[in-house]
Amino acid sequence: MAASVLSIRPRVVGTPPASPQTTPSKSSHQVVSVSLFRSADFNGIPLSTESLEISSTRLGSGAWSDVFAASSVRSRQESGLGLLTPPTTPTKSTFPSNTRFPRGEIYAVKRPASRSAKAVNIAEARILTRLHQIDGHERYIVYFRGIDPTSGHIALDRYPLGLEDYVIQNLNKQTPEARTTTLITILPTLAKHLVAGLAWLHSAGIVHADIKPGNILLDPSSPSSTNPSSTQSLFPYTPLYADFSASLSTTPPPSPTITSDGNIDIVDANPATAGGTWDFLAPELLTSDPLSSRPTPRSDVYALGVTLLFLIVGRSPYADAPNVFLRREMARLGKPLQCVYDDERFEGVVKGLTAAAARGNSSLSAGVEGAARGMGVVEGIKRAVERKGEGRMGSREWSAGML
Ligand SMILES: Nc1ncnc2c1ncn2[C@@H]1O[C@H](COP(=O)(O)OP(=O)(O)O)[C@@H](O)[C@H]1O
Ligand SMILES: [Mg+2]
Repeated sequence: MAASVLSIRPRVVGTPPASPQTTPSKSSHQVVSVSLFRSADFNGIPLSTESLEISSTRLGSGAWSDVFAASSVRSRQESGLGLLTPPTTPTKSTFPSNTRFPRGEIYAVKRPASRSAKAVNIAEARILTRLHQIDGHERYIVYFRGIDPTSGHIALDRYPLGLEDYVIQNLNKQTPEARTTTLITILPTLAKHLVAGLAWLHSAGIVHADIKPGNILLDPSSPSSTNPSSTQSLFPYTPLYADFSASLSTTPPPSPTITSDGNIDIVDANPATAGGTWDFLAPELLTSDPLSSRPTPRSDVYALGVTLLFLIVGRSPYADAPNVFLRREMARLGKPLQCVYDDERFEGVVKGLTAAAARGNSSLSAGVEGAARGMGVVEGIKRAVERKGEGRMGSREWSAGML
């Protein structure tokens, strides 16, 4: 899916399409025109503009938006699926064809749920526009297709599931033994990719600020060459960071969003205050001190540590809390590891990984005497969920230190 951009024929237009940008099609499905801009203020000639028809298939909802499956109007016309009048001289489709999703609905359109949500989407699209221009985006983050700056619709490639779905619908349904084997096999590669992706994001000057299993989508179409075959057969996906609605830039100071009607919107997109979960927030973000409550690269590292713990134990480390207040308090104490030490699933995975590492090391020491030992997954998690931000390892250090 990620490589498919090469096949897109950019339709260069002088100015962004005039409003209204969204028009109902004959099927009463909405058609939205999205553009990919070079500049994060969406000025200048777009690199490409596409009309997408939004279907009624809802892929998910969050605090700010509803996400629907969508298809390219052009490819629908050309394939005869079109609900609009087909072109008289059909041209060969330059859009990626994909049989995984019915009716060519291979895109996801994120529709803002309210006026303030539109400002959140615009801010997210600014970050996606920046990241889209940096090498590596296709490996680490969802594929951005464009924004309609007037309505705030964001277009992305569509992915069939997220990491949270995988844990609940697949991993947790395996027998305990199979589950442990799966995790021991897939964790080193999966964690390595997520850590490398986070280091990439931070080098690009972006703090994600809402890392959790629900905001990591899984791409099944990536080349398997990057995964060892054992991982590939058990986990045939590449994990990609998604949902940059709470993200911020570490370089320029945060700027307010100027809406199309000239008003300035300052939106607090903090995931927790927006009705999200506290469980992945670093303890320093759960204090009342405004100076320390701004997300940082280190708070992302913490969130990724808790995300990997979620994967291992199949639920939040704080899932046992009797009520939301105590749950928040547990998150604020910042001891997620202590909450999973007694969990059989955690114990099984630690034992399995330790045994695998010991096997690996004996063959290593037989070959390369004194070869440097890297950091294992569990050791990495321990150093990532260090309670105090100052003592916590950075994403680059984590990535460089991994086995
Ligand atoms: N590109 C996509 N492909 C498939 N599903 C998606 C995609 N983007 C989002 N979703 C679904 O929609 C949900 C909400 O999207 P997200 O970007 O996390 O928005 P929010 O900021 O509202 O949480 C996700 O958890 C996921 O289930
Ligand atoms: Mg989300």
